[in-house]
Amino acid sequence: MLDSTRFPRFGDKTNSSSFEEYLPRLLEERDRSGLTEMIGGIEALMITVEPGNSLEYVSELSLMTPYHYLVTLDSPKHFTHVLRIDMNSPDILLREVKDSTYSDIFRNLNDIYPIGERRHHSRYLGEILLATQRHEVVALQQSREFSFFQIGQLAELDLPINVSISRPSPYTQNIVGYMERNAEGIRVYQHGECIILASIQAAYERGKEMQESLSIKDLILPIDHLATRVYSQNREAALLEYLALSSYYYWGSYDIKDQNSSTNVTKNVRFEPESASPAKVFTANNSPYCVNHLDRLPSPTETFVRNYGPRLHHMALAVKDGQRNGMEHIDFVVAAIAAQGKGFLLDTIGSREAGLKQIFSAASEFSTLIIEYVQRFDNFQGFFTRENVALLTFAAGLADAPQQQTRAG
Ligand SMILES: [Fe+2]
Repeated sequence: MLDSTRFPRFGDKTNSSSFEEYLPRLLEERDRSGLTEMIGGIEALMITVEPGNSLEYVSELSLMTPYHYLVTLDSPKHFTHVLRIDMNSPDILLREVKDSTYSDIFRNLNDIYPIGERRHHSRYLGEILLATQRHEVVALQQSREFSFFQIGQLAELDLPINVSISRPSPYTQNIVGYMERNAEGIRVYQHGECIILASIQAAYERGKEMQESLSIKDLILPIDHLATRVYSQNREAALLEYLALSSYYYWGSYDIKDQNSSTNVTKNVRFEPESASPAKVFTANNSPYCVNHLDRLPSPTETFVRNYGPRLHHMALAVKDGQRNGMEHIDFVVAAIAAQGKGFLLDTIGSREAGLKQIFSAASEFSTLIIEYVQRFDNFQGFFTRENVALLTFAAGLADAPQQQTRAG
């Protein structure tokens, strides 16, 4: 039996005694119930974009990531492009809403936030996890008070019918889906008609040809981690909730005092490399905005959440360790992509001596998601360095600042 409590703890952030009491109880019960065994890694990420925006986003992802365009699922309300690297890494299901007047629960989540509402449909929905016995997993989760969309609601929401999907989390607003697949089988989404769209294929090929001509194609590796921002008061609940819904364990939390924020990491219990099932990171302010007028601390994380709602902030892609043309691979990749007009926030942060180097791209105009690149040197064992995270959080806060001013003005 898998033991989710056997992992060493990292980090320096102190949790509440209640969290420390519930954490081992939750993991032990999950292991005992068989859920840890029945729930596998991340099979797919679901992202929705505005009508007309998937074409350029496919091109952007084709250039900036190792993803390939596989097929489009044409269903009544969406075109869902399936992007894939291979069966060893999660797919991306990129959903384009067909009708701009379309409204559903996901749009409603965007519409209650001042910047979120500017793009009604653009948001990261959540992950689909592998489940060896989907209906048993769902029944167990329901008995533990987790809620799922009914089959009729899934049809109304125009989501794949072979995936069981939770209602959005009150803490992260992300959903978790469960899907079955044979150990050696390929992923199949039962959703609409399977077509190849020539326009999407062309956009994909444009991105990949550019990647090839820039000599960066072999340097960008699969997703390393997914970082969600939540309200400060929801940090511990968001962690416990994700651990209850997945087969992840709690790796630890770092206090990023400079930015009045913490980074909280969960990882897959199966010791798979992150490329097979990315780490899930939750970032939260240390103090809520409503007391910030007293101390006036930097609060980029809480500001982001107030502007966009709790949601995924970035997808981090690993960069192969090594150098090309006398530059670290990450610098080579960033210089090549930046020369194509893509923006980055500040410069790459970190060094070979520190163990890793990282950078944030500007937020995508199509998905609002940031892409992080991370190069780990010489099999660096740590997940991140506090100094890097502080600078990245600061950089992302700067990028949000003009929007705040616009809002205030
Ligand atoms: Fe990150």
